[in-house]
Amino acid sequence: MEQSQIESINKELSTKEPVEIVKYAVKNFPGVYISFSGAEDVVLIDMAMQAKGDFKVFTLDTGRLHPETYRFIDKVREHYGIKIEVMFPEKETCEKLVTEKGFFSFYKEGHKECCQIRKVEPLKRKLASITSWITGQRHDQNPGTRANIPAIQMDPTFFSDRLIKFNPLANWTSKQVWRYIIDNSVPYNELHDKGYISIGCEPCTKSINPGQHEREGRWWWEDATKKECGLHLGNIKNK
Ligand code: ADX
Ligand code: SF4
Repeated sequence: MEQSQIESINKELSTKEPVEIVKYAVKNFPGVYISFSGAEDVVLIDMAMQAKGDFKVFTLDTGRLHPETYRFIDKVREHYGIKIEVMFPEKETCEKLVTEKGFFSFYKEGHKECCQIRKVEPLKRKLASITSWITGQRHDQNPGTRANIPAIQMDPTFFSDRLIKFNPLANWTSKQVWRYIIDNSVPYNELHDKGYISIGCEPCTKSINPGQHEREGRWWWEDATKKECGLHLGNIKNK
């Protein structure tokens, strides 16, 4: 799709509610994939179900998620009666990393290498075979890196000449997401009842105190500009 076309669709979509953007995606891009992290992005699945469109779901199992998140992913599978495709890290590189550097190398060396192996490579493998995907990124998740994400874009990180990326929740605040979850009785990850806001891998996520920004619970030993694991790195390059 031409860049100018994307820009004009974005202009139209960016004033719409997330449910309308999801509806647009599932109707116009049948087979579009929702990238589900096992957190509050579950609302995307709920919206796609309501739209009764043709969509699929995948999740990246890094091997380091919380038990609560694994339980939640299965709960979502059962609740909506949907298949959730699970991507694992590539065996050899993962074994090599852990054998050579142990299970917690990221605390010393930064999260880049581990995220590359456990998240980015499996994501790239998935995206290689698809033409469009939907993420739960929002502006308010990381004002430093996500302030400008549009409702629809050519993926700025992977296969940027052909892959379409939707960010239907871009304009929503965390509060609005939670309003939707409550109003629509959407199942949610039990970690949210234990002080967790933003949820990623267990060793790299912690609960936060009232008043802290949600991103402070992710890779807290690193500086804020590095708090992208690589799935959406184009956000940083584009700035
Ligand atoms: S991350 O880049 O810091 O890890 P974040 O947790 O904010 O991402 O999630 C933003 C969006 O990225 C999610 O809504 C989801 O679409 C996608 N995403 C993140 N982690 C995963 C995962 N493990 N599996 C699938 N999608 C994911
Ligand atoms: Fe590894 Fe932490 Fe990245 Fe998960 S978030 S892939 S455990 S560095």
